Amino acid sequence: MKKIAVLTSGGDAPGMNAAVRSVVRYALSQGVEVLGIHRGYHGLLHGEIEVLNRRSVSDIIDRGGTFLKTARCLEFKHEEVRAQAYEILKEKGVEGLVVVGGDGSFMGAYLLSKFGISTVGIPGTIDNDLPYTDYTIGFDTALNTILDSVRKLRDTSSSHERVSIVEVMGRNCGDLALYSALAGGAEAVIVPEYPFNREELCQRILDSKKNNKLHSLVILAEGAGSAEELTKYIQEKIGLDTRATVLGHIQRGGIPTARDRVMASLMGKKAVDILLKNGVCAKVVGIKDNLVFDMDIEEALKIEKNFDKDLYDLVNKLV
Ligand code: F6P
Repeated sequence: MKKIAVLTSGGDAPGMNAAVRSVVRYALSQGVEVLGIHRGYHGLLHGEIEVLNRRSVSDIIDRGGTFLKTARCLEFKHEEVRAQAYEILKEKGVEGLVVVGGDGSFMGAYLLSKFGISTVGIPGTIDNDLPYTDYTIGFDTALNTILDSVRKLRDTSSSHERVSIVEVMGRNCGDLALYSALAGGAEAVIVPEYPFNREELCQRILDSKKNNKLHSLVILAEGAGSAEELTKYIQEKIGLDTRATVLGHIQRGGIPTARDRVMASLMGKKAVDILLKNGVCAKVVGIKDNLVFDMDIEEALKIEKNFDKDLYDLVNKLV
């Protein structure tokens, strides 16, 4: 293989730049030319493609976001649109494509491979919602961003002896909520994967008040409800001063942590190795037990997430 391309797709995630940098520089070290596609599949369809050299990826390893820009491309669901994308890649002499993104982006890569081009997915999403891998790029940075906010909320919330409901991102996955609740010492965590009783939560908050706790912090995953709505319920039910904070897109930005940069760099290299060693394939790379591995995209997308009930129970035991 003499020429590959790389794109970032779906929601951006801190560490995507480090992944692209690794793909570019490692591929060049193996004598392979690299094209960068701007704005994901959308940019591919519109020919937003440039040659990347070692300098193109200078000074991006510690930058959040993605310098290639990203987009969600709904048209890519149509076969004729993917056929068009394949023709554009073929015309440019591209034999392999690396896609940094989440499950929707991987599905696009898988379907594109059916035209006869190799594709490899690198997991890049703050949600950590790809069950085939223990880890997705951006999760660690987002988690630390949440914890920074939680630390600040604790100051004001304990000064006013309030209840603080913090809504975090994650789509239908509760990992950001679960890990930030554990690391942030929350009173309770509410996730989409496990049923939750609001009356019990109110009772728990009242009990901790009786035990002289100055404030209560509840982490709510966005997929499990709305902070505004829960806040209203708690105020009406037990009359305690309660505030809602929706962290929103703050969670997607920021300097990538060392962990995100290292994982991204390792997976970038692995993606290139797969393209160079395999015939036409559709693979994903991931992390299992701290080791980089790969598997077929088709298989990876079938795996269902196991909810970590032990972690959930631990949050509740450590209050
Ligand atoms: O998938 C990443 C994510 O940040 C989710 O946590 C969130 O639900 C969604 O993207 C927000 O999407 P958008 O940036 O399109 O509003």
